[in-house]
Amino acid sequence: MFDFDRVIERRGTHSTKWDMIAKLSGIEAPDALPMWVADMDFAAPPGVTEALMEEVKRATHGYYADTGSWAAALVEWMKRRHKLTIDPAWVSQTPGIVSGLGLILQATTEPGDEVVVFPPAYHAFRKIITANDRRILDVQLVEKDGRYCMDLAALEARLTPRTKVVFYCNPHNPGGTVWTAEETRALAAVCAKRNLLLVSDEIHCDLTLDGTVHVPALTAAPEHADRIISCFAATKTFNLAGAHAGACVTPNAQLKQNLDQRIMASGLSSYNSFGMIATEAAWRTGEAWLDALLLYLARNRDAFETRIKEIIPGARPMRLASTYLTWVDFSGTGLAPEDVADRVASRARIFASPGEQFGPGGATWLRLNIAMPRPLLDEALARLAGAFEDLRSQTRR
Ligand SMILES: Cc1ncc(COP(=O)(O)O)c(C=O)c1O
Repeated sequence: MFDFDRVIERRGTHSTKWDMIAKLSGIEAPDALPMWVADMDFAAPPGVTEALMEEVKRATHGYYADTGSWAAALVEWMKRRHKLTIDPAWVSQTPGIVSGLGLILQATTEPGDEVVVFPPAYHAFRKIITANDRRILDVQLVEKDGRYCMDLAALEARLTPRTKVVFYCNPHNPGGTVWTAEETRALAAVCAKRNLLLVSDEIHCDLTLDGTVHVPALTAAPEHADRIISCFAATKTFNLAGAHAGACVTPNAQLKQNLDQRIMASGLSSYNSFGMIATEAAWRTGEAWLDALLLYLARNRDAFETRIKEIIPGARPMRLASTYLTWVDFSGTGLAPEDVADRVASRARIFASPGEQFGPGGATWLRLNIAMPRPLLDEALARLAGAFEDLRSQTRR
């Protein structure tokens, strides 16, 4: 019903993923393949294209009137997909999640305050914290039974009187860990005990694979809902990152008021109509597309994980329970991280996200985005096979 195998030429279309390769990675080859930023190479759900076409055909593009239908679409989606009840009055709209995180910091903390991050963690967490003159407090994730776990004793031990906020990514990027209700509840309990705000970035919540259930922070720890801000968006789920529309959701009216004040002070309370139309249409019409996408992604993941271990002896992908961002440890190859990076960039002509970008614990890893049509994924794997050919011959000897 949906053709995820179709290769869409994205070069020369203002695609960050494709058109910024040379500038950001130094890979000049014209056939370079991007496996870095979290953006898929699939066409968005047909209902999104239709809604945008209607707008384009009308050709009047004045200010967007927020009638409440966007928040209603989000509320209905979260209820249907995640059994989470949200009151539309809890929803603050932001031009994306990262901008929302910055606004949250401005609304709730002072320069010099500390924000907890669980590395390896989404690199924009680090950037937005430091760009706002706040400080990163790293609490290292530990790997247990092939998945990440939070060390809450280490968290408690590291907290200082300046620690005010926890940035927590559920599901986690990178690694794709889907936190259990118990894990989130335990984290929220520490936040309550130590008077911290818990910001739960759930942008990847729709992208759980193999039927794994995402538990929203507000569901896992309703007793601490007053200190939780959850961030949701349709943009990762439906490949609409350019729409730049996200939501910060909190049942704490005072917290919401402070956040809305920052949104207003930044002149952000008028929305981009194309982004609003696209993301609302996605929530309203995209469910069958998403179900098909998840099956496609799971097949890509299975193919990638099987092949990468065969073609690069010692490479170890973390089993992805969610997201399309594979996370591969190359420490078992015996190669230095610079050698691995050079083979991937120069020999395979692939732009992967360097693990060190994700903070402590990432140095020997690469993050590789597999949300691409199968012919492109097969091409990427063939190139990687060539780039590490000598390792295979050594192991055969
Ligand atoms: C965990 C996480 N949060 C936020 C974002 C980006 O959100 P936005 O584009 O809405 O700022 C990403 C994108 O990769 C992400 O992985």
